[in-house]
Amino acid sequence: MRVLNTLVAAAVAFFPAQAFAQCDPGERVTKFSLVTSLQGHPKGEAALAFADRVNSELDGKLCVEVFGNSELYNDTDVFDAILNGDVQFAAPGVTKFGKYTQQFELFNLPFLFDGPLHVMEFLNSDVAAEMTAGLTDHGFVGMGYWANGMRQMSATVPLRLPLDARGLTFRVSSSSPVTAEVMRRMEITPKKLSFSKVYDALKTGEVQGQENTWANIQTKEFYLQQAAVTETNHTYIGYIVVTSQDFLSSLDPETRQALQDIMKLTTHERNRFAFEINQQRRQDILDDDGVIVTLTPEELAQWRAELKPVWDQFKSSIGEGLVDAAILMNSTTNPFE
Ligand code: SIN
Repeated sequence: MRVLNTLVAAAVAFFPAQAFAQCDPGERVTKFSLVTSLQGHPKGEAALAFADRVNSELDGKLCVEVFGNSELYNDTDVFDAILNGDVQFAAPGVTKFGKYTQQFELFNLPFLFDGPLHVMEFLNSDVAAEMTAGLTDHGFVGMGYWANGMRQMSATVPLRLPLDARGLTFRVSSSSPVTAEVMRRMEITPKKLSFSKVYDALKTGEVQGQENTWANIQTKEFYLQQAAVTETNHTYIGYIVVTSQDFLSSLDPETRQALQDIMKLTTHERNRFAFEINQQRRQDILDDDGVIVTLTPEELAQWRAELKPVWDQFKSSIGEGLVDAAILMNSTTNPFE
């Protein structure tokens, strides 16, 4: 099975990461920059669906080209690229907006949400809509939330309890103070690296562990460099699709409205598939003889007991109201509360 996967990966590498759109002369060409894979990934598939719809419904006016696998920018540089007009769309993880607001640190609070459905409930709420409104102060427009899934932890040793990772260095995706505190409690050293660097860093031993969704772990083959992936489901990766205010206001009102409607429809349609895609990628790991550790209820209770105090440390910097709203939305069906 692993040989087959290697052949598929080689074929994917041979073909360009860019999804070429049929842009016609006279159309305004726009770029959508992603760090993840396109096919078989919730965000990649959503971006392709968005581009397809724009390219057919706004044919002759606007055209979207999708670039995956960090081909254009990483998630640090993409914010300036959007503001400078070098790309028009990106969808960084919610917690990568840390330099603009601490509110999105909410999604790094361990075990705050007990599953992707609860996160989606929260993301569809008025509270979450207000969270993106503040981005306009920085020149961005949040066009929608796109789903990925819950993060799992993997390392060069199988993890059953938080301190099993003691002494290791883990790749982290942002300078999140919440994640740093989680790692401190696990006696792990965090190392911030862009997504495109993770596979090599795991391979060379620069880092020995990481945390990510099934879709990211499988499509980027992180699991091949790890002893096991532990099904922790401890935090969530979702995305804010951003564009710039300058770009949106440069469109005529009809095109702008059509673009926003297409984004709304795509978001609604594609978010339903994020959970299923992640479960498929999880199964792909098993089919490739990857090791997945499933925690017992007692072990999971220890993870929660060890890491949940982090909530109180960051409640005021994130916003008491936000944390309380998330707890309330989750607690109606959360068996652990
Ligand atoms: C992504 O899902 O866009 C990347 C996540 C990461 O940087 O770990």
